[in-house]
Amino acid sequence: MTTQDPEAPEGVDLERPNAARIYDWFLGGDANWAIDRQFGEQAVKTFPMIKTVARVGRDFLGRGVRYLARNGIDQFLDLGSGVPTVGNVHEVAAEVNPNARCVYVDNEPVAVAHSQVLLEKEGVADRHAVLQGDLRDPADIWKRALETGVLDTNRPIGLIMVGVLYFLGPDEPVAQTIQKYLSLLPAGSYFLSSHLTTEGLDAMADAESRESIVAQYQRSSTPLHLRSKAEFTTFFEGLELVEPGIVYLPEWHPEEIESRATKKMANDPSFVGHICGLGRKP
Ligand SMILES: C[S@@+](CC[C@H](N)C(=O)[O-])C[C@H]1O[C@@H](n2cnc3c(N)ncnc32)[C@H](O)[C@@H]1O
Repeated sequence: MTTQDPEAPEGVDLERPNAARIYDWFLGGDANWAIDRQFGEQAVKTFPMIKTVARVGRDFLGRGVRYLARNGIDQFLDLGSGVPTVGNVHEVAAEVNPNARCVYVDNEPVAVAHSQVLLEKEGVADRHAVLQGDLRDPADIWKRALETGVLDTNRPIGLIMVGVLYFLGPDEPVAQTIQKYLSLLPAGSYFLSSHLTTEGLDAMADAESRESIVAQYQRSSTPLHLRSKAEFTTFFEGLELVEPGIVYLPEWHPEEIESRATKKMANDPSFVGHICGLGRKP
């Protein structure tokens, strides 16, 4: 496909690789273009475990949603939801509660278009929706999410920002943005998140390759910004942290791990370079 691809959704930037489409390629999807695949191949050369790490991230999302659904959460607002792939939030939640609801939000037109196609096939209009929007604008996202009619603000909601906050740069008011969403959510709601971290890098033989990956992403339309555990922890301010707190992905409810990729990482959890957590609004 070329940068003039007539099949690409309107507004898609095919001049530069993009996080949603690169991630789709890492996970074996086909919602990506040559420019994304070249980027992905280069990233695999630099850090051969990168596809496994993407699976570990996806597996955490599934464990988190399953945990929430089992604890009575039946509606989700998934920000930075990505191109649909194995274990989409509405599917994982439906395995526990067939009436679960979900609003997906992504700022990448390809991710939104593919979500629309999927929801037209297997979604139910009053329980599933997708919006194109930028999570950095909570007032707009919240207003439009409520306009879908999918979410009931009288009952707890699972707010998800998994594998997305590292696309917000060092000058962005990330903690305030999250607090804004949390202020809009009813009591008993949850915040589920994961983040690429600077933690453990000194001790890692591959620290250099991870830095090269970050440098590579600076040339994409979606640069990466790693954060410390201390900073990520501030994103959960005012919430009750669910056990085991802020940990590396394979350490979060390991008894629920299903994917081989995550099991493989269990002996060296810091290697995935991602931390995660789940908090409950009192
Ligand atoms: C690595 S993917 C993660 C997808 C999914 N959450 C998961 O964990 O499998 C990150 C997604 O966040 C989206 N994204 C990045 N910045 C965003 C923003 N400011 N607002 C909404 N979505 C964003 C990207 O387009 C991409 O689809």
